[in-house]
Amino acid sequence: MDMTLDQIITQARSESLKIHRLDNHSGLQVLKLETPKASLVLHLQGAHVSSFIPRGADDILWLSSLAEFAPGKAIRGGIPLCWPWFGKHPKQAELAQHGFARNSLFKLIDIRTIEQDNALVTLELTDTAQTRTIFPFAFKLTVELLISTSLTIKLITTNLSRLPLPLSQAIHTYFNLQDIYNTQLTGLEAAPFYDQLSGKDDNETSSVITFKKETDRIYRTCNAQLIIDDSARQITIQQSGDDSTVVWNPWVEKSLRMSDFPDDGYVEMLCVEAANTGDKLLLQPGDCYELSQTIGLEE
Ligand code: BG6
Repeated sequence: MDMTLDQIITQARSESLKIHRLDNHSGLQVLKLETPKASLVLHLQGAHVSSFIPRGADDILWLSSLAEFAPGKAIRGGIPLCWPWFGKHPKQAELAQHGFARNSLFKLIDIRTIEQDNALVTLELTDTAQTRTIFPFAFKLTVELLISTSLTIKLITTNLSRLPLPLSQAIHTYFNLQDIYNTQLTGLEAAPFYDQLSGKDDNETSSVITFKKETDRIYRTCNAQLIIDDSARQITIQQSGDDSTVVWNPWVEKSLRMSDFPDDGYVEMLCVEAANTGDKLLLQPGDCYELSQTIGLEE
Protein backbone atom coordinates (compact mmCIF):
# COMPACT_ATOMS: atom_id res chain seq x y z
CA MET A 1 0.00 0.00 0.00
CA ASP A 2 1.18 3.55 -0.75
CA MET A 3 2.54 5.53 2.18
CA THR A 4 0.70 8.68 3.24
CA LEU A 5 2.41 12.06 3.07
CA ASP A 6 2.97 12.04 6.84
CA GLN A 7 4.40 8.52 6.75
CA ILE A 8 6.88 9.54 4.02
CA ILE A 9 7.88 12.58 6.07
CA THR A 10 8.25 10.63 9.32
CA GLN A 11 10.35 7.98 7.65
CA ALA A 12 12.58 10.55 5.92
CA ARG A 13 13.34 12.72 8.97
CA SER A 14 16.88 12.33 10.31
CA GLU A 15 19.64 14.21 12.16
CA SER A 16 20.59 15.84 8.87
CA LEU A 17 17.12 16.30 7.36
CA LYS A 18 14.42 18.30 9.10
CA ILE A 19 11.00 18.42 7.49
CA HIS A 20 8.07 20.64 8.55
CA ARG A 21 4.61 20.99 7.08
CA LEU A 22 3.65 24.59 6.24
CA ASP A 23 0.22 23.82 4.75
CA ASN A 24 -1.74 27.00 4.11
CA HIS A 25 -5.30 28.00 4.93
CA SER A 26 -6.59 27.16 1.44
CA GLY A 27 -5.49 23.57 1.88
CA LEU A 28 -2.27 23.60 -0.15
CA GLN A 29 0.29 21.07 1.05
CA VAL A 30 3.62 22.76 1.61
CA LEU A 31 6.84 21.27 3.03
CA LYS A 32 9.97 22.93 4.33
CA LEU A 33 13.09 20.78 4.17
CA GLU A 34 16.30 21.71 5.95
CA THR A 35 19.66 20.01 5.56
CA PRO A 36 23.05 21.12 6.89
CA LYS A 37 23.61 22.64 3.43
CA ALA A 38 20.38 24.40 2.49
CA SER A 39 16.67 24.86 3.07
CA LEU A 40 13.90 24.54 0.51
CA VAL A 41 10.14 25.14 0.43
CA LEU A 42 8.10 22.82 -1.77
CA HIS A 43 4.42 23.08 -2.76
CA LEU A 44 2.99 19.74 -3.86
CA GLN A 45 0.71 21.61 -6.26
CA GLY A 46 2.93 22.06 -9.30
CA ALA A 47 5.92 20.36 -7.57
CA HIS A 48 6.71 24.02 -7.12
CA VAL A 49 9.85 25.09 -5.24
CA SER A 50 9.22 28.59 -3.88
CA SER A 51 12.42 29.08 -1.87
CA PHE A 52 15.96 27.69 -2.01
CA ILE A 53 18.45 29.08 0.49
CA PRO A 54 21.96 27.69 0.65
CA ARG A 55 23.05 27.92 4.29
CA GLY A 56 24.23 31.43 5.18
CA ALA A 57 23.05 32.95 1.88
CA ASP A 58 20.01 34.91 0.72
CA ASP A 59 17.31 33.09 -1.20
CA ILE A 60 18.39 32.23 -4.75
CA LEU A 61 14.74 32.36 -5.81
CA TRP A 62 12.48 35.36 -6.15
CA LEU A 63 8.90 35.01 -4.93
CA SER A 64 6.35 37.72 -5.63
CA SER A 65 5.00 39.46 -2.52
CA LEU A 66 1.61 39.32 -4.32
CA ALA A 67 1.79 35.63 -5.22
CA GLU A 68 -1.48 33.76 -4.75
CA PHE A 69 -1.39 30.42 -3.00
CA ALA A 70 -4.64 28.69 -3.87
CA PRO A 71 -5.76 25.46 -5.51
CA GLY A 72 -5.51 25.67 -9.30
CA LYS A 73 -3.52 28.96 -9.24
CA ALA A 74 0.02 29.20 -10.60
CA ILE A 75 2.44 30.72 -8.09
CA ARG A 76 4.28 33.84 -9.30
CA GLY A 77 7.92 33.24 -8.49
CA GLY A 78 10.07 30.32 -7.38
CA ILE A 79 10.24 27.56 -9.99
CA PRO A 80 7.02 26.97 -11.94
CA LEU A 81 7.18 23.93 -14.21
CA CYS A 82 5.80 24.57 -17.68
CA TRP A 83 4.67 21.20 -19.01
CA PRO A 84 3.59 19.54 -21.38
CA TRP A 85 3.74 22.69 -23.45
CA PHE A 86 5.73 25.88 -23.11
CA GLY A 87 4.00 29.21 -23.84
CA LYS A 88 0.80 29.10 -25.83
CA HIS A 89 -0.56 25.70 -26.85
CA PRO A 90 0.65 25.12 -30.44
CA LYS A 91 -2.85 24.32 -31.75
CA GLN A 92 -5.48 25.35 -29.20
CA ALA A 93 -5.00 28.96 -28.18
CA GLU A 94 -7.77 28.68 -25.55
CA LEU A 95 -5.74 26.27 -23.41
CA ALA A 96 -3.77 27.64 -20.46
CA GLN A 97 -0.36 29.12 -21.25
CA HIS A 98 2.57 26.91 -20.10
CA GLY A 99 0.49 23.74 -19.73
CA PHE A 100 -1.28 22.22 -16.75
CA ALA A 101 1.53 20.78 -14.59
CA ARG A 102 2.08 24.00 -12.65
CA ASN A 103 -1.56 23.91 -11.45
CA SER A 104 -1.75 20.16 -10.84
CA LEU A 105 -1.34 18.30 -7.60
CA PHE A 106 1.74 16.07 -7.69
CA LYS A 107 2.13 12.96 -5.58
CA LEU A 108 5.08 12.90 -3.22
CA ILE A 109 6.78 9.56 -3.87
CA ASP A 110 9.89 9.69 -1.71
CA ILE A 111 12.24 11.82 0.36
CA ARG A 112 15.62 10.42 1.30
CA THR A 113 19.01 11.50 2.56
CA ILE A 114 21.80 10.50 0.25
CA GLU A 115 25.56 10.74 0.63
CA GLN A 116 27.17 13.80 2.25
CA ASP A 117 23.96 15.20 3.77
CA ASN A 118 22.28 15.73 0.42
CA ALA A 119 18.55 15.09 0.10
CA LEU A 120 16.58 13.74 -2.83
CA VAL A 121 12.85 14.41 -3.22
CA THR A 122 10.79 12.60 -5.86
CA LEU A 123 7.33 13.63 -7.03
CA GLU A 124 5.10 12.33 -9.76
CA LEU A 125 2.23 13.42 -11.97
CA THR A 126 0.29 10.94 -14.11
CA ASP A 127 -2.56 11.34 -16.55
CA THR A 128 -6.18 11.44 -15.42
CA ALA A 129 -9.52 11.58 -17.24
CA GLN A 130 -9.26 15.37 -16.88
CA THR A 131 -5.72 15.69 -18.37
CA ARG A 132 -6.68 13.35 -21.25
CA THR A 133 -9.43 15.77 -22.35
CA ILE A 134 -6.79 18.40 -23.16
CA PHE A 135 -3.68 16.21 -23.64
CA PRO A 136 -4.75 12.81 -24.99
CA PHE A 137 -1.75 10.80 -23.78
CA ALA A 138 -0.91 8.43 -20.96
CA PHE A 139 2.23 9.76 -19.27
CA LYS A 140 4.35 9.85 -16.16
CA LEU A 141 6.15 13.07 -15.24
CA THR A 142 8.71 12.49 -12.50
CA VAL A 143 10.26 15.50 -10.80
CA GLU A 144 13.45 15.00 -8.81
CA LEU A 145 14.91 17.65 -6.52
CA LEU A 146 18.48 17.13 -5.37
CA ILE A 147 19.16 19.43 -2.43
CA SER A 148 22.84 20.08 -1.82
CA THR A 149 24.68 23.40 -1.62
CA SER A 150 23.11 23.73 -5.06
CA LEU A 151 19.66 22.58 -6.21
CA THR A 152 19.18 20.28 -9.18
CA ILE A 153 15.68 20.00 -10.55
CA LYS A 154 15.06 17.27 -13.06
CA LEU A 155 11.93 16.62 -15.15
CA ILE A 156 11.68 13.08 -16.49
CA THR A 157 8.83 12.51 -18.93
CA THR A 158 7.80 8.99 -19.87
CA ASN A 159 5.39 8.35 -22.72
CA LEU A 160 3.06 5.54 -21.61
CA SER A 161 0.75 5.84 -24.65
CA ARG A 162 0.71 4.01 -27.92
CA LEU A 163 1.14 7.23 -29.88
CA PRO A 164 4.12 9.59 -30.11
CA LEU A 165 3.81 12.29 -27.43
CA PRO A 166 4.66 15.89 -28.42
CA LEU A 167 6.46 17.74 -25.63
CA SER A 168 7.67 21.25 -24.94
CA GLN A 169 8.55 22.38 -21.42
CA ALA A 170 10.47 24.75 -19.18
CA ILE A 171 11.94 24.90 -15.71
CA HIS A 172 10.84 28.51 -15.32
CA THR A 173 13.19 29.72 -12.58
CA TYR A 174 12.72 33.21 -11.10
CA PHE A 175 16.10 34.35 -9.74
CA ASN A 176 16.31 36.77 -6.84
CA LEU A 177 18.48 39.78 -7.70
CA GLN A 178 19.77 42.78 -5.87
CA ASP A 179 19.23 45.06 -8.85
CA ILE A 180 18.39 44.24 -12.47
CA TYR A 181 20.00 47.53 -13.54
CA ASN A 182 23.37 46.19 -12.32
CA THR A 183 22.96 42.61 -13.50
CA GLN A 184 24.90 40.75 -16.14
CA LEU A 185 24.08 37.39 -17.66
CA THR A 186 26.90 35.47 -19.32
CA GLY A 187 27.03 32.19 -21.25
CA LEU A 188 24.85 33.07 -24.23
CA GLU A 189 27.42 34.81 -26.39
CA ALA A 190 26.91 34.24 -30.13
CA ALA A 191 23.71 32.23 -29.49
CA PRO A 192 20.90 32.65 -32.00
CA PHE A 193 17.64 33.73 -30.40
CA TYR A 194 13.98 34.34 -31.15
CA ASP A 195 12.70 37.61 -29.72
CA GLN A 196 9.14 36.95 -28.50
CA LEU A 197 8.43 40.70 -28.37
CA SER A 198 9.42 41.61 -31.94
CA GLY A 199 8.71 38.17 -33.43
CA LYS A 200 12.15 38.23 -35.07
CA ASP A 201 15.19 35.95 -35.06
CA ASP A 202 18.55 37.42 -34.20
CA ASN A 203 22.02 36.55 -32.89
CA GLU A 204 23.44 37.60 -29.55
CA THR A 205 26.39 39.86 -30.24
CA SER A 206 27.36 40.75 -26.65
CA SER A 207 29.43 38.47 -24.45
CA VAL A 208 27.57 39.92 -21.48
CA ILE A 209 23.81 40.55 -21.51
CA THR A 210 22.52 43.53 -19.52
CA PHE A 211 18.92 44.62 -19.00
CA LYS A 212 17.42 48.01 -19.86
CA LYS A 213 13.95 47.09 -21.12
CA GLU A 214 11.38 44.31 -21.33
CA THR A 215 13.14 41.14 -22.41
CA ASP A 216 11.51 37.92 -23.61
CA ARG A 217 13.89 35.81 -25.67
CA ILE A 218 14.29 32.17 -26.54
CA TYR A 219 17.99 31.47 -26.99
CA ARG A 220 18.77 28.33 -29.00
CA THR A 221 21.28 26.64 -26.73
CA CYS A 222 22.02 23.11 -25.58
CA ASN A 223 23.49 22.23 -22.19
CA ALA A 224 23.77 25.92 -21.31
CA GLN A 225 26.23 26.98 -18.59
CA LEU A 226 25.34 30.45 -17.37
CA ILE A 227 26.23 32.97 -14.70
CA ILE A 228 24.02 35.74 -13.35
CA ASP A 229 26.12 38.43 -11.68
CA ASP A 230 23.94 40.99 -9.89
CA SER A 231 27.03 42.73 -8.48
CA ALA A 232 26.35 41.27 -5.00
CA ARG A 233 26.88 37.60 -5.94
CA GLN A 234 27.23 35.20 -8.80
CA ILE A 235 24.52 32.62 -9.40
CA THR A 236 25.59 29.62 -11.48
CA ILE A 237 23.22 27.71 -13.76
CA GLN A 238 23.94 24.40 -15.49
CA GLN A 239 21.37 22.83 -17.78
CA SER A 240 21.04 19.55 -19.61
CA GLY A 241 18.47 18.18 -22.02
CA ASP A 242 17.63 21.80 -22.98
CA ASP A 243 17.36 23.02 -26.56
CA SER A 244 16.57 26.57 -25.41
CA THR A 245 17.22 29.03 -22.62
CA VAL A 246 14.39 31.49 -22.08
CA VAL A 247 15.35 34.87 -20.61
CA TRP A 248 12.47 36.97 -19.34
CA ASN A 249 12.02 40.21 -17.45
CA PRO A 250 8.63 41.98 -17.76
CA TRP A 251 10.05 45.47 -17.02
CA VAL A 252 7.77 48.39 -16.11
CA GLU A 253 4.56 48.18 -18.14
CA LYS A 254 4.06 44.44 -18.06
CA SER A 255 4.71 44.45 -14.28
CA LEU A 256 1.86 46.95 -13.94
CA ARG A 257 -0.44 44.66 -15.94
CA MET A 258 0.15 41.53 -13.83
CA SER A 259 -2.08 41.44 -10.74
CA ASP A 260 0.20 39.05 -8.81
CA PHE A 261 3.38 41.02 -9.53
CA PRO A 262 4.45 44.15 -7.56
CA ASP A 263 4.90 47.27 -9.71
CA ASP A 264 8.63 47.47 -9.01
CA GLY A 265 9.13 43.66 -8.79
CA TYR A 266 10.99 43.57 -12.10
CA VAL A 267 13.99 45.25 -10.43
CA GLU A 268 14.60 42.25 -8.18
CA MET A 269 14.09 39.32 -10.54
CA LEU A 270 15.15 37.66 -13.73
CA CYS A 271 13.80 34.45 -15.20
CA VAL A 272 16.34 32.13 -16.82
CA GLU A 273 14.59 28.98 -17.93
CA ALA A 274 15.91 25.59 -19.05
CA ALA A 275 13.55 24.69 -21.86
CA ASN A 276 12.57 22.63 -24.85
CA THR A 277 10.57 24.96 -27.06
CA GLY A 278 8.96 24.55 -30.46
CA ASP A 279 7.84 21.22 -31.88
CA LYS A 280 11.09 19.29 -32.06
CA LEU A 281 10.47 16.82 -29.23
CA LEU A 282 8.30 13.85 -30.03
CA LEU A 283 8.58 10.98 -27.55
CA GLN A 284 7.97 7.57 -29.02
CA PRO A 285 5.87 5.08 -27.01
CA GLY A 286 7.85 3.93 -23.97
CA ASP A 287 10.50 6.68 -24.37
CA CYS A 288 11.80 8.88 -21.53
CA TYR A 289 13.17 12.40 -21.77
CA GLU A 290 15.16 14.28 -19.10
CA LEU A 291 15.51 18.03 -18.70
CA SER A 292 17.44 19.49 -15.78
CA GLN A 293 18.70 22.72 -14.28
CA THR A 294 21.19 23.10 -11.43
CA ILE A 295 21.33 26.43 -9.61
CA GLY A 296 23.83 27.52 -6.99
CA LEU A 297 26.22 30.22 -5.88
CA GLU A 298 29.80 30.71 -7.05
CA GLU A 299 32.01 29.79 -4.08
C1 BG6 B 1 7.98 33.35 -20.01
C2 BG6 B 1 7.47 33.74 -21.37
O1 BG6 B 1 8.52 32.05 -20.08
O2 BG6 B 1 6.89 33.33 -19.08
C3 BG6 B 1 6.78 35.08 -21.28
O3 BG6 B 1 8.56 33.78 -22.28
C4 BG6 B 1 5.69 35.05 -20.23
O4 BG6 B 1 6.24 35.42 -22.57
C5 BG6 B 1 6.29 34.59 -18.91
O5 BG6 B 1 5.12 36.34 -20.09
C6 BG6 B 1 5.28 34.49 -17.76
O6 BG6 B 1 4.22 33.67 -18.10
P1 BG6 B 1 3.00 33.46 -17.11
O7 BG6 B 1 2.03 32.59 -17.83
O8 BG6 B 1 3.55 32.79 -15.88
O9 BG6 B 1 2.47 34.84 -16.79
